[in-house]
Amino acid sequence: MAYMFGLIGYPIKHSLSPWIHKQFMKTTGMEGDYCIYEVTPEDSFEAFIGQLKSSRVDGFNITVPYKEKIISYLDDIDPVALKIGAVNTVVNRNGKWIGYNTDGKGYVRSLNSKFPNLLKKVTKRALILGAGGAAKGIFAALEEVGFKRVDIANRTKEKAVMICGRHKHQSQVYSFKDVEQRLHDYDIVIQTTSVGMKPQVDQSVLSDDTNFSPVPIYSDIVYQPIRTNFLQRAEQSGAQIHYGHTMLLYQAQYAFELWTGRKPNIGQMDEELKQILK
Ligand code: ATR
Repeated sequence: MAYMFGLIGYPIKHSLSPWIHKQFMKTTGMEGDYCIYEVTPEDSFEAFIGQLKSSRVDGFNITVPYKEKIISYLDDIDPVALKIGAVNTVVNRNGKWIGYNTDGKGYVRSLNSKFPNLLKKVTKRALILGAGGAAKGIFAALEEVGFKRVDIANRTKEKAVMICGRHKHQSQVYSFKDVEQRLHDYDIVIQTTSVGMKPQVDQSVLSDDTNFSPVPIYSDIVYQPIRTNFLQRAEQSGAQIHYGHTMLLYQAQYAFELWTGRKPNIGQMDEELKQILK
């Protein structure tokens, strides 16, 4: 029987997830559909979920503003999603809804696809800029794959302290201003704030005076635009860069794997998605 997947959120009309998952179905030879379920703030989320429960949906993704709200409708939750406090993927296992968060693991997979040597390094140290939902997932996943140190810089210090406090690392928390002088401490700097996203394409949380050159790899999870101000400046300093659309692809790959048990090849999709976003 054909699979039935979808995405719940608002606004999601321009989401790239249907394209990604339909490609995955093609490459794995699976039949099915991936629908957009736009639930506006005026709609009843509860009523929509009730309808979906009585449908034969095999799994779905869930995004802003419902990643936390969905938790009370689940039958079970994966420990990683529980720790993060947000679910972006739900699997229907014999009528039971299980919640997962694929962001962190997807991010690490994307990193491993481009920089396998970084992941093999024993003393790897990362700096995360931002302390929102995505930063939480990435922090936990970096810890999981053995990063020796993961520090955070954020506008609101308390949010960064909350993330660090929940984990076993001896992490440092910085303001953006302070961390600009300490970049030589890191193997990778990962930008997770919404600053630099369209239409604020000329902005970045690191000031114009920042010297990017001590860090070998810069990563931005923003993918609209694909080459953010942050990544442009990083590249000009001679660093290697890691684009945000790759996290989108690999977190989707992990979700597809949870739904179907099959891990689709990313292959040319990385380049194709880059062209779509350009
Ligand atoms: P996501 O789930 O995508 O991570 P989020 O949870 O809303 O989104 O987090 C957004 C991040 O971008 C936060 O780190 C936020 O900083 P605060 O914790 O101080 O709110 C950061 N952010 C958003 N706008 C910002 C701005 N103008 N300057 C600096 N940081 C900003």
